Amino acid sequence: MLALLSFPLLALSAVSAGPPSARAANSLVAGAWYTGWHATEGFPLSKVSWEKYNTLIYSFAITTPSVHQLSLNGSDPELLPQFVSEAHKNGVSAHVAIGGWAGGQWFSSNVATAENRTAFAKTVANFAGKYDLDGINFDWEYPNDQGIGCNTISPNDTSNFLAFLQELRQTPIGAKLTLSAAVAVTPFVGPNGSPSTNVSGFAEVLDYIAVMNYDVWGPWSTAVGPNAPLNDTCAAPADQQGSAVSAVKAWSAAGMPVNKIVLGVASYGHSFSVPPTDAFVSGSTTQLMAYPAFNASNQPLGDAWDDTGSVDACGVYEGPGGDWDFWGLVDGGFLTTRGLPADGIYYRYDTCSQTPYVYNETTQVMVSFDNAQSFSVKGNYIKDAGLRGFAMWEAGGDYNDILLDSIRSTAGFNE
Ligand SMILES: *[C@@H]1O[C@H](CO)[C@@H](O)[C@H](O)[C@H]1NC(C)=O
Ligand SMILES: *[C@@H]1O[C@H](CO)[C@@H](O)[C@H](O)[C@H]1NC(C)=O
Ligand SMILES: *[C@@H]1O[C@H](CO)[C@@H](O)[C@H](O)[C@H]1NC(C)=O
Ligand SMILES: *[C@@H]1O[C@H](CO)[C@@H](O)[C@H](O)[C@H]1NC(C)=O
Ligand SMILES: *[C@@H]1O[C@H](CO)[C@@H](O)[C@H](O)[C@H]1NC(C)=O
Ligand SMILES: *[C@@H]1O[C@H](CO)[C@@H](O)[C@H](O)[C@H]1NC(C)=O
Ligand SMILES: *[C@@H]1O[C@H](CO)[C@@H](O)[C@H](O)[C@H]1NC(C)=O
Repeated sequence: MLALLSFPLLALSAVSAGPPSARAANSLVAGAWYTGWHATEGFPLSKVSWEKYNTLIYSFAITTPSVHQLSLNGSDPELLPQFVSEAHKNGVSAHVAIGGWAGGQWFSSNVATAENRTAFAKTVANFAGKYDLDGINFDWEYPNDQGIGCNTISPNDTSNFLAFLQELRQTPIGAKLTLSAAVAVTPFVGPNGSPSTNVSGFAEVLDYIAVMNYDVWGPWSTAVGPNAPLNDTCAAPADQQGSAVSAVKAWSAAGMPVNKIVLGVASYGHSFSVPPTDAFVSGSTTQLMAYPAFNASNQPLGDAWDDTGSVDACGVYEGPGGDWDFWGLVDGGFLTTRGLPADGIYYRYDTCSQTPYVYNETTQVMVSFDNAQSFSVKGNYIKDAGLRGFAMWEAGGDYNDILLDSIRSTAGFNE
């Protein structure tokens, strides 16, 4: 009986559409994360534009205190097999992201010793085998750099992570998977607390990294800045907080080839409360100010997908995030259905970060986000710099594929 239980999964892999294109060495990645928890909130699998992607990453499997277990709690466990089957039907690689902001609490302890690495490699390989996955995206936020606040952490995290990935590659399943990591804009932190200067070991075991070039500025910042800047070397020194350009420079200087760097792009933005006295350039009633101050004690709510305030994975209460998806900006009256600024909404396009801002003077809400123009420029950069492609957080954030179509056309997917 037990042996029969695995039959449906084997049957599924037998009919899947051959090796998906993203598996081929150096083929460009057109990817996005699909969040299990939004399937019942307006973005079911049937709404995914499968034909415009070659890689979709189901989010999240989370780490647990046991090295023998991953958990899909919170991410609709029943949906994952359907996600994989739908992806394969469409010739799309099905990956799962492990970790995330709230789900990486136990990465450090799971890879801390040789014994744990062996066990965790087996856990990950078995998980991939069980669900017939084509890839695993490690979303550890972050090795030897505390993220949410209660992650296990060690100065040896980065070298332990590498040793773990090498061991995973030795397993029969791990050898065939597309392995990637979602990473910060600077390389993994080494034992001395600074970004590693040599990540070539990671370049050997990973197929690619996806640089999470977003949340560079947000409500935790000192001013309203770009969520996902393309460039910051053209900004004032104090405003150089990271960008695609500086991230690619930092990672490639540390030994990650540019053709193993996928640019993470955002289908959402951050909102800030900005009184009109700060929002406009002095003497103007229409021209928006760059990097204005905002009222941090008055965080606006975001769209219907925003967290309105809850207790996080560490047991700490967090107020509203203030996130606006691209579709949310349309719903919320900031943008027209064509993704352009609505009547009466003030607009600024910053030519260094190559990102837009909108402002509603009545509600005093300013949003830093991405639109068709900024995605088009990012696509051009991917092509010109020779990057591996793009991965969008998250697939469900777009509106009528305005962002997706834009980046695909300039990054070279329509040629
Ligand atoms: C799933 O997560 C929720 C809160 O996020 C928690 O209350 C519940 O106990 C978890 N269930 C399992 C089976 O871990
Ligand atoms: C190894 O993993 C187990 C959980 O399965 C954990 O209890 C232990 O603390 C880990 N070892 C280290 C050194 O973190
Ligand atoms: C880090 O690794 C070194 C070398 O293997 C070892 O001596 C040291 O005890 C480790 N530190 C921690 C905190 O695990
Ligand atoms: C960088 O790391 C790789 C693999 O771990 C090693 O082979 C190489 O010698 C290192 N390079 C430098 C300059 O330290
Ligand atoms: C980034 O800004 C620098 C400094 O202005 C400029 O030289 C470079 O061309 C810019 N890169 C891109 C991709 O826009
Ligand atoms: C900031 O927002 C808080 C909460 O709404 C409000 O009490 C305060 O007056 C605001 N500060 C300024 C400078 O507008
Ligand atoms: C600003 O937001 C308010 C509240 O949502 C809305 O009623 C108003 O139409 C918006 N302003 C503009 C110019 O759209």
